[in-house]
Amino acid sequence: MSAVMNSDVRSIEDLIASQKSGYSLDQRFYTDPDIYDLEVEKIINRNWILAGHASQLPEPGDFRVLNVGRESAIIVRGKDGDLKAFANVCRHRGSLVCLEAAGHVDKFTCPYHGWMYDIDGNLTAARNMDDGFDKSAHGLKPVSVGVVYGLVLVCFSDEPPSIDGAIRDIEEAMKMYDFENLKVAAQKSYAIPANWKLSIENYQECYHCATAHPEYALMHTMMLDDEKRERASGHMYENMEACGIKNIEIDYVDTAARPGEIGFGYGRTAMFNKYKTGSKGGGPVAPLLGSIKGYDGGQADLSFGPFSFLLAYNDHVVCYVFTPVDQNNSNCEIYWLVRGDAEEGKDYDVDELTWLWDVTTKADKEIIANNSKGVHSKFYEPGPFSGMEALEQRYIEWILAELQRP
Ligand code: FES
Ligand SMILES: [Fe+2]
Repeated sequence: MSAVMNSDVRSIEDLIASQKSGYSLDQRFYTDPDIYDLEVEKIINRNWILAGHASQLPEPGDFRVLNVGRESAIIVRGKDGDLKAFANVCRHRGSLVCLEAAGHVDKFTCPYHGWMYDIDGNLTAARNMDDGFDKSAHGLKPVSVGVVYGLVLVCFSDEPPSIDGAIRDIEEAMKMYDFENLKVAAQKSYAIPANWKLSIENYQECYHCATAHPEYALMHTMMLDDEKRERASGHMYENMEACGIKNIEIDYVDTAARPGEIGFGYGRTAMFNKYKTGSKGGGPVAPLLGSIKGYDGGQADLSFGPFSFLLAYNDHVVCYVFTPVDQNNSNCEIYWLVRGDAEEGKDYDVDELTWLWDVTTKADKEIIANNSKGVHSKFYEPGPFSGMEALEQRYIEWILAELQRP
């Protein structure tokens, strides 16, 4: 999709100031390359992004690559057993060094002229360079990496938001599910031909669920308005304690985030009566997680930073990561987590485990793509939000605030 010629010549500051609260964003937020540049600087390269689970990198030399917008990081288990991350940019003339998405190596060899780096990022070989060439000054550049109860986060800023407060305050919730000892049972990528904000805006609201997601709408009270949802939650509150689940509410998400810290949140929502988990028919699809002792008829929503959202059912977790590819394309990466000791084929079946959110994400991909097409039309103008789009509105307000932050 080519850039749309927009006759609106206001400065970005004036444009931001003119956004009407309670309405979707102006077209230029999806089409103006200068606004995308600003997003890269102020939002995309400043925040933590979920890059998988530490259990995917058990041994020194195990690596994964995370691509986000213009950046690419190699996340690797170092010789000392710690996770490290490096810019996937060769110190010779800048080629991508690692072209595979994941694997195991004893060294990284740049495909262009063959410079070699060890798994700690040190340059170990560079053919035919002058005698005076200092290899030690040409190691891969480090990228910030953090681990929150097994969840691996990467940030392309040298001064990333602190994750210490999140680690401290979300401990009780994370330990219920034993996040640290979960494993990735399945992972899928969904390419979405739309600006990253449209992908996340769609995830933030369930106004569309009744029309777009018949499977999801049968199970989740999230598709009700607040009042009806509260009424439908009684059975969950009654059962929580017996199931070993604490009623925890944490809201340090985006706009409410403590200054200098990652935004994060945790909350629980009821499912409709007969559903135990997010599966076809509502029956369990994997062994219960952590210290959870039964099915209370609820499900938890979590978030870490502005790109990563998790749904914790009592028997599995679904992690959603939305990242920009460029201004007109985004990626949705989904990780399905189960107990670390669960065995495929015996304790869970990947098709059963992934069914709900695969079907739902394929439907989302289509509605987001259609949204993008309409937003590029000369007839598009910002429209009013429903009360069921309150979180989307909050997210947009956060974006506008971040774009103005020094
Ligand atoms: S760019 Fe990597 S070796 Fe030349
Ligand atoms: Fe959806």
